[in-house]
Amino acid sequence: MIKKIGILTSGGDAPGMNAAVCGAIHAGHKLGKEMYVVIGGYYGLIHNDIHKVEANFADHALNLGGTIIKTKRLPEFKEENVRKEAVKALKAEGIDALIVVGGDGSYMGAKALTSMGINCVGLPGTIDNDIASSDYTIGFDTALNTVVEAIDKIRETADSHKRCIITEVMGNRCPDLTLYAGIATNADYIITVDKPLDKEDLIKTLNEKYETQDSAMVLLAEKQYNLEELTKFVKENTKWDTRNDILGYIQRGGTPTAMERVNAIRMGTYAVELLDKGIGGVCVGIVNNKITHREIFEALSLERDKHEDLMQVFEYIK
Ligand code: F6P
Repeated sequence: MIKKIGILTSGGDAPGMNAAVCGAIHAGHKLGKEMYVVIGGYYGLIHNDIHKVEANFADHALNLGGTIIKTKRLPEFKEENVRKEAVKALKAEGIDALIVVGGDGSYMGAKALTSMGINCVGLPGTIDNDIASSDYTIGFDTALNTVVEAIDKIRETADSHKRCIITEVMGNRCPDLTLYAGIATNADYIITVDKPLDKEDLIKTLNEKYETQDSAMVLLAEKQYNLEELTKFVKENTKWDTRNDILGYIQRGGTPTAMERVNAIRMGTYAVELLDKGIGGVCVGIVNNKITHREIFEALSLERDKHEDLMQVFEYIK
């Protein structure tokens, strides 16, 4: 029977991580567990930055973006000798179960720790929505709202000057933020991994729009094309007065939306229920609005949903 459970956040911070931590800590206390937080992800684990917390530890942070238990990217965690340090630190505290909130890379660490005797449950935490085992990742809804708010504002200035503005959106090769924001803002063109740049089509679209619109909004998913080169190309091949913008890290911060908090708390509490039943080596997801879990190794091999239906919606509305 698991008595002590740790929780850490790993990879890029995402709004709602605090809500997941809060949910897990409360559920753990209600189920009679001692709850521990690890400060700074896997890095904190190997540096013994592990602290026992009371039930109300994260209550004040429900409405805060970022992660109050900090995070760090630690590529070295792939190495077995580094992971052994982590297991040693957890065992020294008598902790035999760990909740890991993060992306795919963090899941790999959780899977490896499980095979080394620490029952782990992964929660999908990243603004990118790039975890195939869940329809929704913690942080995506808030980041999407931030992107939409920014694009709406950029549209206002673009409209006033009759400009084309190309905005780079985060996503780490996952198109979801760009695609969803493209639909929600009625953008004029999107460029993503599933819809790579077609120069001829872009110029044709923008030239047509020049005749009927006061502005044109192009959303470029990061890492898909060089923003400056694209801006120059549009400038040279259309009549549009063309500018660009990179939304950057504002996409990662901000007050988590209500839906984000509810889903994150739901996932955090479910993770504790799983560990209480002795289930580990799994990751939690929300699929068709039902909370669910599956083996991490299986989750990591799932194909990303290409949202062909949403691509079609974008084609209609653009
Ligand atoms: O995974 C979240 C994310 O913000 C990606 O969208 C982006 O590519 C990456 O993290 C940026 O990472 P870093 O925090 O290392 O700059």
